[in-house]
Amino acid sequence: SSMIPVITIDGPTASGKGTIAHRVGQALGWSVLDSGALYRLTALAVRDGGIDPADELAVASIAGRLDVCFDGGRIWLAGRDVAAQIREEPIGNLASQVAAYGPVRQALLARQRAFRRAPGLVADGRDMGTVVFPDAPLKIFLVASVQARAERRCKQLKEKGFSANLAGLLQDMRARDERDRSRIHAPLSAAPGAKTIDSSNLTIDATVDAVLDYWSRL
Ligand code: CDP
Ligand code: CDP
Repeated sequence: SSMIPVITIDGPTASGKGTIAHRVGQALGWSVLDSGALYRLTALAVRDGGIDPADELAVASIAGRLDVCFDGGRIWLAGRDVAAQIREEPIGNLASQVAAYGPVRQALLARQRAFRRAPGLVADGRDMGTVVFPDAPLKIFLVASVQARAERRCKQLKEKGFSANLAGLLQDMRARDERDRSRIHAPLSAAPGAKTIDSSNLTIDATVDAVLDYWSRL
């Protein structure tokens, strides 16, 4: 499987990873892995199962037994379409909390690597380039200012019919960034050799083009 190319896109929340990964995947005709969805699904299963989020091993056990199915834009968890539900901010915050546990990350590793299928994979998350696909031929570190990211997330949540408040989002985002960067297991950081793209002032199209440009010039 190491012959199958992977483009990794890591970065902080709302930097545009998911959107860009999806568009690059479409352009190349490759599979796409939204690894954050696995942490969000774990968080949802923990909440719905009444599991104590502080109990690392109980959470890891849930993560290892997730009954999930990705089907286009739909995400099924134990037969329920939860694609919209896992996007709620409280689930994102709980995801970030349980993502700090080493056993949880270990439980999700093989599941993530199984997405590597011909002709290629675009994988987005925090540790795609550093831990999950360290042999990826192209690694992108996608960043944007916290202000730009909070505004994007605010707009995105409102469009989906969720309530959102910019000041609250800014505060949550700073806390989540800090937790993702300072944790011991797979902290958010640029992989060695990663190309950093700052999308604060870039359109989605321009960002996609920048990634495809790096790919075509490898
Ligand atoms: O969309 P957003 O960037 O807000 O979050 P996400 O990518 O869906 O990930 C939710 C949380 O899962 C993040 O805050 C990370 O703590 C965690 N995560 C991770 O630790 N490793 C990954 N590869 C992906 C997500
Ligand atoms: O996956 P991640 O949390 O990094 O971000 P996302 O959910 O892909 O993007 C967050 C929001 O920013 C989406 O509504 C995108 O349409 C928007 N976005 C943007 O306005 N400009 C960009 N260059 C990239 C994303």
